Amino acid sequence: MRALSARFIAPVAGGDLIRSPHILPTGRNIHAFDPFRMPTAFAMADGAAQAKRLLQAHHSLPRTVALVLWGSDNIKSDGGPIAQVMALMGAKPRFDSYGRLCGADVIPLTDLGRPRIDVIMTLSGIFRDLLPLQTRMLAEAAWKAATADEPLAQNFIRAHTLAYADSMGIDLETAALRVFSNAEGTYGANVNQLVSSSTFGDEDELADAYEARKSFAYGRNGKATQSAALLQLALKDVDLAYQNLESVELGVTSVDHYFDTLGGVARAVKRARGGQETAVYIGDQTRGSGKVRSLKDQIALETRSRSLNPKFYEPLLRHGAEGVRQIEAHVTNTLGWSATTAQVEPWVYQRLSETFVLDEVMRKRLSALNPEASNRMAQKLLEASDRAYWQPDADTLAALQNAADELEDRLEGIAAE
Ligand code: BEZ
Ligand code: MG
Repeated sequence: MRALSARFIAPVAGGDLIRSPHILPTGRNIHAFDPFRMPTAFAMADGAAQAKRLLQAHHSLPRTVALVLWGSDNIKSDGGPIAQVMALMGAKPRFDSYGRLCGADVIPLTDLGRPRIDVIMTLSGIFRDLLPLQTRMLAEAAWKAATADEPLAQNFIRAHTLAYADSMGIDLETAALRVFSNAEGTYGANVNQLVSSSTFGDEDELADAYEARKSFAYGRNGKATQSAALLQLALKDVDLAYQNLESVELGVTSVDHYFDTLGGVARAVKRARGGQETAVYIGDQTRGSGKVRSLKDQIALETRSRSLNPKFYEPLLRHGAEGVRQIEAHVTNTLGWSATTAQVEPWVYQRLSETFVLDEVMRKRLSALNPEASNRMAQKLLEASDRAYWQPDADTLAALQNAADELEDRLEGIAAE
C-alpha cells in the first residue's frame, strides 16, 4: 500500500529467510552485499570445514571434484560455496591494503595437510554476472596452483594441467582453465528444457546440451573462450560431482535448476568416463553445521518429507492450480535426476503414482484444480516407465495408463468446450 501510494520503501540487504531474519518482510528491493569483501573470513573457515566433510563422505580422496556455484547462494552465505572451492584447491583470497579483494594465493602444502584437489567449476550465469571479482579470483587460484613448483602427487591441479597441455598441445594458461560457465548473456544448461519437453532421445543428448552451454572457460582476465575439448578432457578425471543446498525454501526436486547443471555435469562425466556412473553429493547447509548426503539419499529424503508428506502437499493444494503445478514439478524434476544421474530409487515413482494418480479421489481433485498439470504428471510417470527409470508391475502400469487416458480426455474435453 505504501508503494502504491508512491511512498518510499527502504531497501534491505539480500539474505536467507532463516539465516538473516532481519531481511523480513520480503518483497523489498535488495542491495546485496559488498563484493570486495567476499568470501569473508567466516566463510573461509566454514568452507574449509564443509570441504573436509565432503572429502570424508567419499570413499577415497578425489583427484577432481565437479562443483556447481550459484550466485544467490554465495550472496546468502558471504561466499560459503566459493570458500569450499578455495579450500579444496588449497587457496585463499588476497586483499589489498584497503581490504578489497584483489586476487588469490595458494596456501603452503604443509598447512593444507593433503594434496591440492582439482575442481572443475560450473558457474550459473547469475554467478558470472553478479560476481566478476570472484570469477577472476577462482581462475587465478587454479592458475597459481597449476604453476606451483610442487610434487605432482601432492598437487592434482598441476598434474592434470601438465597432462592436458601435453595431450592437447596447448599452453599452461589455457590448460589451467577451470572456471566454466555459459557464453556471456546466456543462462542455464538447457537440460531442464529437454526434460520438460520430453525431447531428448538418448540421455547422452543431455550431456551434449550441458557441454554446448557450459563449456565457456573464464580466465584470470575475466574473459571467456569456448573450450569444449578441454572441458571434455577434464571431465574424464572427475571423481565426484557436488553442489550446496543453501536454502530451506527449496530442495533439489522442487526446481529444475539443480538437475539442469549438477545433473548435466554428472551425465557429461559419465560419458567422458566411458559410461561409468559418477558419485553425486549434496552439501545440505540448511541446518546445524551442515551435512553431506548422497544425491540418492537427498532425493529419498525430499520425496518422503515433501512430495509424499500430507503436511507438505495439503497446504500446497490450498493454493489451487499452482499447488498442483508444484507437485507436478517434483515429479518432472525427479525424472530429470533419473535421466542425468540414475540416482532415483524405483519406490519413488511407485509411491508418487499411488498417491497422486492411482488414488481416484486425489486424481479427480488434482484434475479439477489443474487439469493441465495433473495430466502432465501422469504422462511423466509413464515416461519414466518407458525410459526404464522404474519398472511398475503389469497391474500398476495398466492402471496408470487408464488414469492418464482419463486425465487426457478431460483435458481435451475442456479444450473442446
Ligand atoms: C543463482 O543464483 O545462481 C541461481 C539461482 C536460481 C537458479 C539458478 C541459479
Ligand atoms: Mg530459468
